[in-house]
Amino acid sequence: MQYSLDKLKELGLLLEHENVADFRSDFYNTKLWAEVFWSRKYSHERRLDPEIDVVKKYNPKKVLEIGSGYGRFTLKLTRILEDASIHGVETCTHFKKYVDIYTKDNPKLMDVTFSFVDFFNNEEFTEKNFDQIILPMNTLSSFPLETYPQIFEKVKDHLTKDGKFIFSTHKGSPEKIEEYLKHYLERYSSEMILRWGIDRILVEDFNTDYEVKNYGAKINSLKVNTRFDFNYSIIERNLFTFHREYIFHEFFDNYIRKLNFEIVEKDSSSHSNVYVLQAIR
Ligand SMILES: C[S@@+](CC[C@H](N)C(=O)[O-])C[C@H]1O[C@@H](n2cnc3c(N)ncnc32)[C@H](O)[C@@H]1O
Repeated sequence: MQYSLDKLKELGLLLEHENVADFRSDFYNTKLWAEVFWSRKYSHERRLDPEIDVVKKYNPKKVLEIGSGYGRFTLKLTRILEDASIHGVETCTHFKKYVDIYTKDNPKLMDVTFSFVDFFNNEEFTEKNFDQIILPMNTLSSFPLETYPQIFEKVKDHLTKDGKFIFSTHKGSPEKIEEYLKHYLERYSSEMILRWGIDRILVEDFNTDYEVKNYGAKINSLKVNTRFDFNYSIIERNLFTFHREYIFHEFFDNYIRKLNFEIVEKDSSSHSNVYVLQAIR
């Protein structure tokens, strides 16, 4: 945490009794994260997922989505893969409730198997022989580069011999990165989620600093989620540190071999790069 208590107070991020030590790093494990993501489901409906066309092209029979949330992308999988066995794994157990509600509205999800465990750090998830493992919605950027060897090894272990690892990443190039990051620095965004008849959630995001590395850039941010009751009295507040890493694709394309994978296809026709990889065995 680079920011002093004074600076955080000056930015209006901390209340009188709060401290730097109150910032936690387990953002994805909280109830608030599941509630916020679920509340965005109507705006998600407009989202284009460039991975979908790529998934369909390889006509898989057994598929796993890592980080399946409430089942938004998983539902799209059920629509394009009529005969496949579809699985979702999600680390945040609070999504279970929303998967159940979403399934009632979308019965196609009844055929999907959801597990609520950390895919990369859990021996309980023993299902193997997937011919596709998908990590959609540019989620890879929320993992630090130093964890990639562990991520790719785990994926390899769960794929069939010719199985494909499909994921999307942000487009970013060394020439444009500083300009892009400066624009992001100290940028504040907020969103008030009003829920009819119940509480309200204020989601605040603050990009505090960035580090340009030889392989890309790391953006550090602070997230403050506050839950209010109907009269705007605070019920709960969670403070988080959050990091994203943007990897330059020039670096990444070479690094993939070091991770014991090779590129089968890279589709750059959308807002993201969609990679299709196969393990070298
Ligand atoms: C950006 S969301 C995308 C959700 C979903 N794929 C979609 O497209 O709607 C990324 C999800 O990955 C989950 N996640 C992060 N790390 C994970 C892990 N180690 N194992 C399983 N899920 C994880 C997070 O909790 C989060 O819900």
